Amino acid sequence: MSVKFLTRTRELVHNKLSSVISSSSLIDEAMRYSVLSNSKAIRPGLVMASGILNDNLTKDSLITLACSVELIHTYSLIHDDLPSMDDDDMRRGKDSSHIRFGEANAILAGDALHDLAFELIANDDDMSDAAKVDAVNILARASGSSGMVLGQYLDIESEKLNSDLDLDDMEKIHSLKTGKLIQASILMGQLESSLDNKKQIMLSDFGSKIGLAFQVFDDILDETGDSSILGKSIKSDIKNHKQTYVKVIGLEQSNFIADQLAAESIGILDSMGLGESISTLKSLAEYMVNRNR
Ligand code: IPE
Ligand code: IPE
Ligand code: MG
Ligand code: MG
Ligand code: MG
Repeated sequence: MSVKFLTRTRELVHNKLSSVISSSSLIDEAMRYSVLSNSKAIRPGLVMASGILNDNLTKDSLITLACSVELIHTYSLIHDDLPSMDDDDMRRGKDSSHIRFGEANAILAGDALHDLAFELIANDDDMSDAAKVDAVNILARASGSSGMVLGQYLDIESEKLNSDLDLDDMEKIHSLKTGKLIQASILMGQLESSLDNKKQIMLSDFGSKIGLAFQVFDDILDETGDSSILGKSIKSDIKNHKQTYVKVIGLEQSNFIADQLAAESIGILDSMGLGESISTLKSLAEYMVNRNR
């Protein structure tokens, strides 16, 4: 069920993005190459599923917001794969952007995807100006120097350490580099929310917990996954002397913590008393920590 929902969401996102990104330069081509590729579309799916619970956003606006989150995420992956960062040659089942287009063009394509995220929000036809300001704020804060960028910085710095980080530091890095954007995806679906404040806070807590679980699980898959299924190289973390949950506490404990976080986050959804309307979000959460394990 969640796979179907994600496939449909990816179609909606790709349709919009393929109409707004032209093919007039190599940078346009590089943008299309990465963002119209085989993403699982988890973050756009979370925006749409969160939006099911909110009566005050139109479907078109949810698609705008889903695109903007996927644009930021895709830019972060292009930069994450660069030789100066994780130095990975494969992404979404094909050559990484810098392998295909060269390093300078990959950096520029990432930059342009980032900019387009905010341009799409500014030009949405249905959202109020206030909602647009909130959307920009949520996305910028989650991605910038106190969000994903900070997490990526700490992640790269951690490669130089001679001893392992403790679990609190690991949690901080993973919550920042991955959890923040996943939480932001949930919050985007709640702009001008028709839910009460308490329920919005519960959804936000759900987002941060499932976001952390997702990155713990990504660490596990880097160790145990199949490169042809994941569409990216495995053992990248070991190659880079990266601090990960698997390195710090081992596979068994990492699986235990990922399961525990998943159960807690799904428990939050169950306790919201929203009946069937929460089922899409719930099945997405289950998918996020159960694929190919
Ligand atoms: C990969 O994200 C990077 C992480 C934050 C773990 P995804 O696993 O969602 O990758 P795509 O978007 O499906 O390619
Ligand atoms: C990436 O974490 C987080 C980002 C913000 C891009 P990873 O470096 O573990 O992601 P993968 O494994 O390359 O997809
Ligand atoms: Mg990385
Ligand atoms: Mg990486
Ligand atoms: Mg990884």
